[in-house]
Amino acid sequence: MTDTPKGVGEHFDDWAPSYDAQIREMVPRYEEIHETLLALLALRPPNRFLDLGAGTGYTLRRVLEAFPSTVAVGLDVSTEMLGRARERLADLADRVELRSSDIGSPEIEGSFDAIVSILAVHHLYADEKRHLFSRIWEHIEPGGIMVLADYFRPASDRLSELYHLPKEPDPHEVEHDHPDTAAEHIAWLIAAGFAAVDVVWKYDDVGVLVAWRAER
Ligand SMILES: C[S@@+](CC[C@H](N)C(=O)[O-])C[C@H]1O[C@@H](n2cnc3c(N)ncnc32)[C@H](O)[C@@H]1O
Repeated sequence: MTDTPKGVGEHFDDWAPSYDAQIREMVPRYEEIHETLLALLALRPPNRFLDLGAGTGYTLRRVLEAFPSTVAVGLDVSTEMLGRARERLADLADRVELRSSDIGSPEIEGSFDAIVSILAVHHLYADEKRHLFSRIWEHIEPGGIMVLADYFRPASDRLSELYHLPKEPDPHEVEHDHPDTAAEHIAWLIAAGFAAVDVVWKYDDVGVLVAWRAER
C-alpha cells in the first residue's frame, strides 16, 4: 500500500511554492538528468509523450520546446504542483493535457511513444512499481521507450557513505519515500515485458534507466 494519495498530494501541495528552487539543491545534477532524457528522446522524437508525476511541469516544458511536433500528457496527484505546471505551460496549452491522477493506480489513456517519470516512482511501494511498469508497457507503442529517473536504494549499505547519504533518514523520507535498488527496477521492467533495459546515467543514489518495448 502506498501513502494515501491525499497524504503524498498534500505533502507536495505544501512544497509546491518552493519546489523548483529546492529540487536543484537536493539533486544538484537535475539538469544533467534532463539533458540525458532529451538525448534519449532525440533518438526517435516522440509524437505522444507522457510524464508521470509531472510536478511543476519543468520536464514537459523542456520536451515540448525540444520537439515541436510532440503533444504531451502530464499526470500528478498534487493540485498545487499541477497548478504551477499549468502556469508554466500556459503558452503551450494546446499541446499538453494535465490531469490529476494517482500513479499508484494509474489512469493512462491511449498509447505513447515515450513515457517518463522523474523523481516520482520512489513514492510508490514495490508492488505498485511492478504494477505501474506493466501498465506503462501496455501503453507504449512498439519501439517506444520508458525513461525512469529516480532515487535508487544502494544495493549495499556499504555504498551509503560513498553516496553521501545521511546515517539517519529524515522523518519525511521514511513517510513518503520508498526507494528500491536499481537492480530490482531493472528486473521488474524486464518482467513487465520490456525488451531492453539499461542504466544510462547514475550519480550517487540517483539514476536514469531506459527501457525499450520491442518493435512489432
Ligand atoms: C519530487 S517531485 C518530481 C516532480 C517532477 N517530475 C520533477 O522532476 O521535478 C514528485 C512528484 O510526484 C508526484 N507524486 C508523488 N506520488 C504520486 C502518486 N502516487 N501519483 C501521482 N503523482 C505523485 C508529486 O505530487 C510530485 O509532483
